Amino acid sequence: MTAVAEAAELVGAGVDRVDGPAKVTGAAQYPADFGFDNLAHAVLVQSTVAAGRIRRMDTAAAEAAPGVLAVITHRNAPRLARAPGGLGPGPPAPLQDDRVLHHGQHIAVVVAQTLEQATAAARLVETDYETSEPLLDLDDPRAERVENASGRDVSRGDVAAGLAAAEVVVAATYTTPTQTNNPLGLFATLAYWDGDALTVHDSTQGPAFVQTALAVTFGLPETSVRVLAPFVGGAFGAGLRTWPHVVLAALAARTVSRPVKLVLSRAQMFTSVGYRPRTVQPVKLGAGRTGELIAIDHEGIEPAALEDDFAESLTRAAAVLYRCPNVSGRTRQVRLNVACPTWMRGPGEAPGVFALECALDELACELGMDPIELRLRNYAEVHPQTGRPWSSKALRACYEQGAERFGWARRAPRPRSMRSGRLLVGYGMASAYYGYVQAPCQARASLGLDGVAVVRSAATDIGPGTYTVMTQVAADALGLPLERVRFQLGDSTMPPAPLQGGSGLTAALGSAVDAACRQLRQAFTELAAPGPVTAETYAAILARHGLAELSADGASARRRDTDAEPGIFAAKFAEVQVDPDLGLVRVTRFVAAVDGGRILNPKTAASQIIGGTAGGIGMALLEQTVTDPGTGRIANATFGDYLVAVNADIPDIDVLFVGEPDPINLIGVKGIGEVAIVGVAPAIANAVYHATGRRIRSLPITAEQLL
Ligand code: MOS
Repeated sequence: MTAVAEAAELVGAGVDRVDGPAKVTGAAQYPADFGFDNLAHAVLVQSTVAAGRIRRMDTAAAEAAPGVLAVITHRNAPRLARAPGGLGPGPPAPLQDDRVLHHGQHIAVVVAQTLEQATAAARLVETDYETSEPLLDLDDPRAERVENASGRDVSRGDVAAGLAAAEVVVAATYTTPTQTNNPLGLFATLAYWDGDALTVHDSTQGPAFVQTALAVTFGLPETSVRVLAPFVGGAFGAGLRTWPHVVLAALAARTVSRPVKLVLSRAQMFTSVGYRPRTVQPVKLGAGRTGELIAIDHEGIEPAALEDDFAESLTRAAAVLYRCPNVSGRTRQVRLNVACPTWMRGPGEAPGVFALECALDELACELGMDPIELRLRNYAEVHPQTGRPWSSKALRACYEQGAERFGWARRAPRPRSMRSGRLLVGYGMASAYYGYVQAPCQARASLGLDGVAVVRSAATDIGPGTYTVMTQVAADALGLPLERVRFQLGDSTMPPAPLQGGSGLTAALGSAVDAACRQLRQAFTELAAPGPVTAETYAAILARHGLAELSADGASARRRDTDAEPGIFAAKFAEVQVDPDLGLVRVTRFVAAVDGGRILNPKTAASQIIGGTAGGIGMALLEQTVTDPGTGRIANATFGDYLVAVNADIPDIDVLFVGEPDPINLIGVKGIGEVAIVGVAPAIANAVYHATGRRIRSLPITAEQLL
């Protein structure tokens, strides 16, 4: 293999996951898989009330139980600083006082020799509370309301005047339930100390962010904290913040001077690693008789935790998806006695676009217009809020090619007019948008005498295929076959990378990896000169110069030589069959046409869209976290009761990628992780309306609602 050998077309090829064999053979080590001879185990004790104070805690029985090494409560925990979070400030530090802010708050951690001993002893901790009336209702007048906490409220024109001038107005309120990020991998933290140096294995979407958070929390220099996450068993946004249990695992390890492992139970996942907050969304659309939008008024209301600054915008897409002169999109958080929420796949847009795109469907019905025609009539050729051009936008092609693939032309417009035997058939569609963020990123590429390039960055791969596509990008830039490239991630000592979130990592990391590998190739070219580089391998060049290795660094940032607006777009098409007697809904076909810019690997990219569509089907028909209204206790915190879509719920999903490489970053990609779920639920809800004539505005769409 010569240094610049003809590389087969590596980028854009549907290569298999390079980490697939390690995963299926069990060689891949997830945070809970690491072990030590003297490993101790930590189990959390959680509050059984939602609001009040801990009056008395009796830990004597737990402390005396077999194998117990420590019981840590607010009475003996050290003072800890509140840390920054991932994309925002972190949750409050645990065990700092006697106050209870939500049901399921961590109030003690029990450390023992074995997991069984810790579990048994945790049950022996007795707690008396002085309870107060919890704030659990969005309408509770006592609750603090926070306007525009995300800073992403939008407005243009005069919405009231626009609605008054409109010939047709539709107005409705849409609601979505709490949904809990439920990766199969239970979140786990394994922590150990060597003097003042802390090492942590964690289920995270950003090792460097956990590193910073733990350094601040424990008052350590960042260089004293190392965080590892080479494999994470899914996260969907749950790994974007540094959670109290991570801090408690590290605190427990310091307290007992041994490595400590803390694995959340499935039930604890519902209160410990965030969730998508429930939403209430009043929407008003005003239009002319021929369908041109005159006003969009979109309001979003959702809960926030009492002492937390997590805030997403539910209403951003209202200002972006359509050309419309008068728009107002406002999101308000209401502080309640609830656990800290987090970003969950398609944060903001997944519920927000549900409301907006169902309202568009209602408007199309009101106008007697085809839903795609209505969207095309209001197509935003430029960013409608800023007036600047899009960096690239192929939404029109998404509508056209998606409709073609789906067979939209066969749709009979009238509701309840299509059948398959005794089942009602409905076709529905929705637009999708996600505004991705590309943060600065670094990578380092090295190549030694074995001729193998090793490329590193402190990113994570929670499942989308980052190991694989970065191996492709590196191999392509170096002119090496895939087998000669090893991409490594998941270690905070590597060059810093952003969180794997906001659909931004592939653009950021791919650009940095590409830059590092091109730098390395350049370094070899300069070293080899004036000899003909194509005749010599990298290893031979090193040997000839008596060198063991060459390395190069690469960095990326959002391109600044353009004022173009980035945006990820898609059109989603659903076919449902509804049993008219039982109210059961099945999604029987689904087409997702996605403008994701350049697609680095069509196989892993299609898997992303399929996974997001499965999540969207769950959102539409199944998923809801139920909170007991009197106590704030989550009533369905098991996989038996919290229903997620499984294979039998998912039809064949047809994924089309349309669009062009996006010039906003050097490798031409957008991000597709979030847009995968956005638009799925409204496409299904609109199909259910088309099948049944019943407009269900509250997710999930259940048999009870349809009967
Ligand atoms: Mo995604 S919610 O940014 O992991």
